[in-house]
Amino acid sequence: MAILITGGAGYIGSHACVELLNTGYELVVLDNFSNSKPEVLSRIKEITGKNFTFYEVDLLSKEAIDSIFSRHDINAVIHFAGYKAVGESVCEPLKYYHNNITGTLNLCDVMNKHGVHDLVFSSSATVYGIPHQIPITEDFPLGATNPYGRTKQMIEEILRDLYVSDKRWSVALLRYFNPIGAHESGRIGEDPNGIPNNLMPYISQVAAGKLEQLNVFGDDYETVDGTGVRDYIHVVDLAKGHLKALERVLLTTGVDAYNLGSGFGHSVLEMVDAFEQASGQEIPYVIKDRRPGDVGICFADTQKANQNLNWVAEKTLTDMCKDTWKWQSNNPAGYTKTQDHVTSIQLAP
Ligand code: NAD
Ligand code: UD1
Repeated sequence: MAILITGGAGYIGSHACVELLNTGYELVVLDNFSNSKPEVLSRIKEITGKNFTFYEVDLLSKEAIDSIFSRHDINAVIHFAGYKAVGESVCEPLKYYHNNITGTLNLCDVMNKHGVHDLVFSSSATVYGIPHQIPITEDFPLGATNPYGRTKQMIEEILRDLYVSDKRWSVALLRYFNPIGAHESGRIGEDPNGIPNNLMPYISQVAAGKLEQLNVFGDDYETVDGTGVRDYIHVVDLAKGHLKALERVLLTTGVDAYNLGSGFGHSVLEMVDAFEQASGQEIPYVIKDRRPGDVGICFADTQKANQNLNWVAEKTLTDMCKDTWKWQSNNPAGYTKTQDHVTSIQLAP
């Protein structure tokens, strides 16, 4: 019996693979490397000392997914694969709707065909849109404000419809808040293409001298110091949340959404301060206008995940900053190798 991980070469997927392998799960991992590098696979094996099967496969190829399910006794799926850049999704909505939604439809269709109905899905706090109240609970009305967010919201609805049609489905919709940090080994972490959009990778590249200064988007929000407040969660805590969600979907049926966050908000300037202290590097910054589409304050009510999944984020802001800096300073160019030297099976499309 194995767990299929889609998008397992990506930032969150790779950390989840480490936690799952360390717990003793047998894994089958697929990724098309559209936003990741093969080198991460050997690093996962290095950290865990465990092996797994990898397929370089695109979820848009239903035949390729089917072939994986025919070769392996898969009993559940953790589905990370998808595009995630908000700005790009506004410019290229069809690319996002096609990849994220068609990819998920293909996956669910093949799961159904092979009698697999247990699924953990990477959703996002972005489905809440502009929160009318904080902290955010799972029953808040949804209202994603961009195509990327709408793919997540639509997929959530699709998965709920699947359960209505067939009560064997068991699905956890994990709504991540702001994942940051890296594995404590410094061997795997976030490796964004080009100039980062998100705060933490931007700060760490300023600290490394790759970027000159941080642009702080707005200092006139109604927050502790006027800068935007978010709920940052260590990626290893997030990865552990997937283990708990997996255990639950394997035992139950139905569709449930869970906020995965720390439950605490931190401002941009608090993050700068925490990073400076953890890294010993100065982070020069300038205040700029608000970023269009941003909300002032957003953080999670995590009680449902605490109670139903028996999960709580344990790592501190200092851990998040220290681990980000360890990854950044040990891997200034991210994953550099282009050739993988571990098992990588190409399936015919
Ligand atoms: P990532 O881009 O690092 O990982 C996604 C992986 O999926 C990549 O390795 C990519 O190559 C792969 N992929 C994309 N389309 C594919 C396809 N059609 N077939 C096969 N592989 C494909 O992103 P991440 O940060 O690890 O995020 C994982 C999931 O969590 C995504 O679904 C993302 O939308 C969601 N999410 C991420 C964040 C965040 O801040 N990182 C927040 C909320 C939700
Ligand atoms: C962004 C995405 C959201 C996604 C989330 C986690 C947008 C509009 N939203 O949200 O869909 O789920 O990432 O991946 O892109 N900031 C700066 N300077 C920077 C970068 C960010 O001041 O260079 C500020 C932002 O204004 C915000 C905070 O830092 O107040 C966090 O920003 P970011 O890391 O981009 O996350 P979100 O805005 O929460």
